[in-house]
Amino acid sequence: MIDPSRRVAQIPPYVPSFIGCAEFRQAVSDFYRRQYEVELDPDTEVIALIGSKEGIAHLLPAMIDPGDVVLVPDPCYPVYRMATTIAGGQTHDMPLTEENGFLPRFDEIPIETAERARLMFLNFPGNPTAATVEPEFFRSAVAFARKHRIPIAHDSAYNMVTFDGYKAPSILQADGAKEIAVEFGSLSKTYNMTGWRIGYAVGNKQMLKALSIVKNNTDTGQFTPIQKAAAFALNGDQRSIDEHNRVYRERMEVVLDGLASIGASAQPPRGSFFIWARVPTGYASAEFVTRVMEETGVILTPGSAFGPGGEGYVRISVSVPNGRLIEAMSRIKQ
Ligand SMILES: Cc1ncc(COP(=O)(O)O)c(C=O)c1O
Repeated sequence: MIDPSRRVAQIPPYVPSFIGCAEFRQAVSDFYRRQYEVELDPDTEVIALIGSKEGIAHLLPAMIDPGDVVLVPDPCYPVYRMATTIAGGQTHDMPLTEENGFLPRFDEIPIETAERARLMFLNFPGNPTAATVEPEFFRSAVAFARKHRIPIAHDSAYNMVTFDGYKAPSILQADGAKEIAVEFGSLSKTYNMTGWRIGYAVGNKQMLKALSIVKNNTDTGQFTPIQKAAAFALNGDQRSIDEHNRVYRERMEVVLDGLASIGASAQPPRGSFFIWARVPTGYASAEFVTRVMEETGVILTPGSAFGPGGEGYVRISVSVPNGRLIEAMSRIKQ
């Protein structure tokens, strides 16, 4: 059993209301039973967050000391890297390559780095690569993490944004995951509640306790009516999720067709609302993005913004309406 925070023992237990209202935590626990057949104790294995980004960022001061090593996917959601740096930690990149389906290879992590690592970030469906995994991947991640006693933070912000019959697994479905892992979830993507700022962390009790101590002394939690609205969304009619996903899927077709016509190849994603495309031959990411912006007024995100491993790619988000995407793609084509 890991002890994720050496500081926990010295600090009195958290006050329950700071971990979120009971109704919201129960709704998250019920969602996990329905969606993943994972049982969570709403009092000790679920906490409310002011958006999952807040929890991810606060996990670093909760878990690491200055100089500690944190394993981050490369490319990745930039908060993993920045929050590690702000907490005084050092990141070790786990390259996500196209040849390996944009999954990290645990066998490539040097043994001495694995032994020093105090946290590992994973994120599926992934931002920016849109990579998805099967449960087997999480079993191998948990086995690796348990062997080297590395706590895992799995960011599943896009868990419900999936297409073509794909169902994203939870890391907590893997045997022994609760001993070593927490999972972050977000209402932002699933229910279009981005501006409401509501998410959750679930899983390992000690890691959640450490996180809640940082939160108690930093933000004191989310406004209760927002938590209750989020509980209502989680407990309510879920048909809107399929409807949103159908819209994202349609938008993706527009982008994929447009990309094919300019020689920038991309695979149709099974999850997230991103398309991760190779830039046309002869360009670096930033160079391509700058040229597109200057000549068409369309803004793409250079892959290199997500880490050195993103070089050679661009990320396109389908979070804007179809009309805008059609216009953007036709300008790029011209
Ligand atoms: C991978 C990933 N994780 C977490 C977040 C944060 O989501 P929120 O703080 O809105 O829950 C985002 C948002 O863009 C994201 O892309």
